[in-house]
Amino acid sequence: MAKRVVLAYSGGLDTSVAVRWMIDELGVEVVALAVDVGQSSDDWDVVTERAKAAGAVEAVVVDARQEFAEDFVAPALKANALYEGRYPLVSALSRPVIVKHLVAAAREHGAGAVAHGCTGKGNDQVRFEVSARALAPDLEVIAPVRGWGMSREESILYAYRHDIPIQATKEKVYSIDDNLWGRAIECGEMEDPWAVPPQAVWLLTRPVADQPRDLVIGFDQGVPVEIDGERLGMLEVVERLNTVVGAYGWGRVDMVENRRVGIKSRETYECPASLALILAHKDLESICLERDLDREKARIEPRYAELIYDGLWFSPLKQALDAFVDSSQEFVSGEVRLHLEPGSCVVTGRRSPHSLYDYELATYDAADSFRHEDSAGFVRLWGLGIETWAQRQGSRREG
Ligand code: ARG
Repeated sequence: MAKRVVLAYSGGLDTSVAVRWMIDELGVEVVALAVDVGQSSDDWDVVTERAKAAGAVEAVVVDARQEFAEDFVAPALKANALYEGRYPLVSALSRPVIVKHLVAAAREHGAGAVAHGCTGKGNDQVRFEVSARALAPDLEVIAPVRGWGMSREESILYAYRHDIPIQATKEKVYSIDDNLWGRAIECGEMEDPWAVPPQAVWLLTRPVADQPRDLVIGFDQGVPVEIDGERLGMLEVVERLNTVVGAYGWGRVDMVENRRVGIKSRETYECPASLALILAHKDLESICLERDLDREKARIEPRYAELIYDGLWFSPLKQALDAFVDSSQEFVSGEVRLHLEPGSCVVTGRRSPHSLYDYELATYDAADSFRHEDSAGFVRLWGLGIETWAQRQGSRREG
């Protein structure tokens, strides 16, 4: 058993109790590592104080927002990654970056193990552990919450007995995980898939704006770099869009999804920035990607999303798909106009210096340069096989 453990620490009840529990039950030293991926957390000073009060020998905060935006969110956007066609992989995307920092901290602090606070029913344990094994097969992975068998009430009592300063006395109904790519809200009354999510669960998508507006997003090789002509980094683009698009009450997802561990789960998400960016990016691809490339990419995208969902961010297939996706983005530069109204966000225009849209080919007016006479022979050959089938076989069915 390792002597020192680096724990992915959130500042919440479970990870705070986990600090003390691992010290007492496993006889290890605990380094608490909080990774900032843009979540709405308590003040980071409060978080580190809490970890220390729980018994951590050291409590560290890493600001990984920029890295998360550029190295994890941007590739997912280039791949239009939506799990089961709808979920932009908010939590799933953050786990590999957290693990990257866990492993780095384990090396730095001479730890032989990393730990996480996930339960045994979710996807996040899968992502933490598989990512850790991919990056550092020599490190042990400890999952205290999965094994300790304490109910929520018992955990609160445990914290109370050990003077761990948690704020969990009031009833906590929802399980929430958030970062700059969106927010996931589960549990409570929403465990009934028929129940309407209470208004109070929505935070990023409260409809406060009533004036319709346009938003022009500029892309460079598949990555957003501008909003309304203003040059911005990936992180700023996402932050800005969460505020602007979220204010129109748009970007919610309500679905029952298939977890990796075989459970169907009712999930609600609010992801104004991610859904708006995927919408715009996909639209820009419609003029920048040659047809076959566009179609093959669309076939690969669901697989790419599944790999992220299933904890396989660090895997050879994901690497190979990244190479394909990156290559596809060479000419995906240009602008997309989004129109926002309360409850809606739609594309109303797209343009690109690399556009494959050819006005003279597409137009029906005098500028038309399409060679109409070529079509007659093309269509005849296109239908030749069907014609032969109709004559020899298809006609027999009618009788
Ligand atoms: N179902 C989503 C996923 O697997 C959200 C998970 C949210 N995590 C949480 N600890 N509440 O990606």
